[in-house]
Amino acid sequence: MSVDYDPFSHEAMKDPFPFYKAMRAEGKPHYIARYDAWALARFDDVWNASLMQNDNITFTSGQTPGQVLLGEMIPRTFMTMDAPEHRHWRSLIREAYTPEGVAKEAARIRELVRRYLSPLLAKGKMDVYSEYANRITTINGGYNLGLPEADAEKWRALIDDMLWRDEGQQGGGSDKNNAAAGELFGYLAAKVAELREHPDEAVRHAAAYLHAEIEGKKLNDEELTFYLFSLLVVGSETTPITVGGTLYNLAKNPQQKAEVLADLSLLKNAFLETARFDQPTNMLARRAKQDFELNGVQIKEEQPLLFLYASAERDESVYDNPDVYDFHRQPTERSLMFGHGGHKCLGMHLGVLMGVTILEELLSAIGDYELVEDECERLYGEHLSGWGKVTITWDADKAALKD
Ligand code: HEM
Repeated sequence: MSVDYDPFSHEAMKDPFPFYKAMRAEGKPHYIARYDAWALARFDDVWNASLMQNDNITFTSGQTPGQVLLGEMIPRTFMTMDAPEHRHWRSLIREAYTPEGVAKEAARIRELVRRYLSPLLAKGKMDVYSEYANRITTINGGYNLGLPEADAEKWRALIDDMLWRDEGQQGGGSDKNNAAAGELFGYLAAKVAELREHPDEAVRHAAAYLHAEIEGKKLNDEELTFYLFSLLVVGSETTPITVGGTLYNLAKNPQQKAEVLADLSLLKNAFLETARFDQPTNMLARRAKQDFELNGVQIKEEQPLLFLYASAERDESVYDNPDVYDFHRQPTERSLMFGHGGHKCLGMHLGVLMGVTILEELLSAIGDYELVEDECERLYGEHLSGWGKVTITWDADKAALKD
């Protein structure tokens, strides 16, 4: 039976997994006639295409399905460049994201987590994403750019308003999404103007890109604003979605939850299994640079390709019982949780460190917890996937930060 897949249809935005299973069963890339595009649902197809960057595939026509399929605005940064330019601009901040670079930030991040968790403990109930985990990741993103923590709630809400889709919304960004993007861009453009006046006050990534000159090129104001914009947004959502999803999936699997509560060192495995089972980067999009063959189909120059990460990580030819949440799975190098190839996630070590710290501090403070299921919601949309709202309760009388 042929699969009628449109990433922007209500059915796919609500629950893409039945489409993904059916497209994987086709055994090859799936052609989407209405966009003259290809959906890569199988692990091997995404994996192999990820290694064709620079010769067969270009990143320059955008990253998101909205950008590549619908022509939405593209923030120009290293994320939408091909080699060698991509490497030059990415390497300016790479060191902060190596395992060693991230380890240097561990104590600061733990302090941040505890500072924001402490006043929440007496409540006995919260939405883990918006009240806790997403605050930490957005504040940390702002820290890397030298933005004031006092403004964090503003940009946190703007990023959600920009990326989150309302149920029933179709066809990419809505007026609400675009207005939030415009306001965030305006806020960061004002920061860029301040940095131009006081360049000595620039820190970390903002300093790196403000002062950068590569092959005689310096960034103009708009380009610099795009860097601040993209770097603030890119690390803010995926980690807290995975944190919420970990608490959700553990609660739905009581035996695994009991094991984790007895030994919090298992949280890293649980977080990584959530990144597989409920891959938060549902999909990204690229474009063919020239004609080439992929797994028996002929891809033509200019055709878009959807890299369906959430599908690839449920591929039954790679994972046993892929639709079962099981953190005892052996971690494997051959994973697409964080992508693959030259554009592989820059923030993977940071994401894991933040996610595990957020979970560790929470569970060591509250112990056991319950889900409020009718106050949990999956994300609706084409780009992000997983649990956007996870409400839990705990015994507030016994909750306290642990030394
Ligand atoms: C659980 C957390 C996260 C997941 C699952 C995740 C996943 C991904 C995926 C699938 C990609 C595409 C890779 C590819 O094209 O091969 C990506 C790219 C990227 N991620 Fe993450 N990510 C996470 C956290 C973070 C964080 C915390 C940051 C913070 C800076 C970050 C920064 C980036 C950047 C900059 C890119 C683009 C890299 C490039 O184009 O060179 N990510 N991520």
